[in-house]
Amino acid sequence: MISVRNLEKVYGSGSTAVHAIKNANFEIEKGEIFGVIGFSGAGKSSLIRCINLLERPTSGEVIVNGTDLTKLSTDELRKARRKIGMIFQHFNLLSSATVFDNVAAPLKLNKAPKEVIRKKVSELLEVVGLSNRAQAYPSQLSGGQKQRVAIARALANDPEILLCDEATSALDPQTTESILDLLLDINKQYNLTIMLITHEMHVVKKICDRVAVMEEGQIVEMGSVLDIFSSPKTATTRNFIRNIFDDQLPEGFLERMQHVPGSRIVRLTFIGESTGHPVLAELTEKYHLKPNILFGHITQIKDTTFGYLVISLTGEAAVLDAALKYVNERGVRAEVIHHV
Ligand SMILES: Nc1ncnc2c1ncn2[C@@H]1O[C@H](COP(=O)(O)OP(=O)(O)OP(=O)(O)O)[C@@H](O)[C@H]1O
Ligand SMILES: [Mg+2]
Repeated sequence: MISVRNLEKVYGSGSTAVHAIKNANFEIEKGEIFGVIGFSGAGKSSLIRCINLLERPTSGEVIVNGTDLTKLSTDELRKARRKIGMIFQHFNLLSSATVFDNVAAPLKLNKAPKEVIRKKVSELLEVVGLSNRAQAYPSQLSGGQKQRVAIARALANDPEILLCDEATSALDPQTTESILDLLLDINKQYNLTIMLITHEMHVVKKICDRVAVMEEGQIVEMGSVLDIFSSPKTATTRNFIRNIFDDQLPEGFLERMQHVPGSRIVRLTFIGESTGHPVLAELTEKYHLKPNILFGHITQIKDTTFGYLVISLTGEAAVLDAALKYVNERGVRAEVIHHV
């Protein structure tokens, strides 16, 4: 659906040039929700704005449905952009127009007949749950309602792609949840491809299928959200995940552990069905070990249950090796994160 190749974006030139995107390469499949996460200034907005050419790439290709958008004439680009909706952190609504007229604006631009506009706007307001606010002005709406209007407007031309730049960053946690639920709904209902930019890992965790992690203009890590959560490769990714699960061992704990030779601290990672395995009981029954639970966390990553437990085990090395091998074979990943 979207294919980005060797994309570079440099703002300005000479000594003040800012290299905002460095050799980005990725594909987004039809119907996928693809997240891009990174700290402020990482280049996320630059990247998403290059997808619909709001920002023209310095070099590289942006191929949407087989067409390289960078090669199109102004007129062709305008047409191609109708199939790419976009929403922003600050909603960007017309303050002097009603909810109805905001949603109708893209249709009016295309000179759609009045009756078609009326029907389409009503349908979209129904989808975003604002049918009874059609005549309200943006100043009379809450932040979440404004974003719903912006989503309805972005869907007016039946886009195939929706770009979301920090669409929930100005909203409180509860409203964020409801907007993310709405994005999930329209993704399913219209098989809409969604690319979303965020600096919040819980947004990625809740709705994305895959995610790219950006740092200083570069994509430093990319993969399925489950893979990124279960085995993050870079410090930046680990930092983002830590906002959700804090798995740092207290200093004092490791100190005390030095006095228990033969002990290991093990992280058990459970994904999907493996969350149902009674591995701790098996460690006790089969290997006569006494696992001590230090901490754990279980959560939902989109449609899959994901959890981990950090335990300490003490025993003979050969027994511990065999026990951990057994656990791994049962589909629960066991990693020794510290041993004495
Ligand atoms: N129009 C511009 N002209 C010059 N430099 C720019 C422009 N837009 C962005 N930059 C620079 O490019 C870099 C990436 O900015 P960008 O807005 O893409 O980051 P971001 O990841 O979206 O950050 P944030 O999370 O704060 O929105 C920054 O160093 C920024 O100062
Ligand atoms: Mg930004």
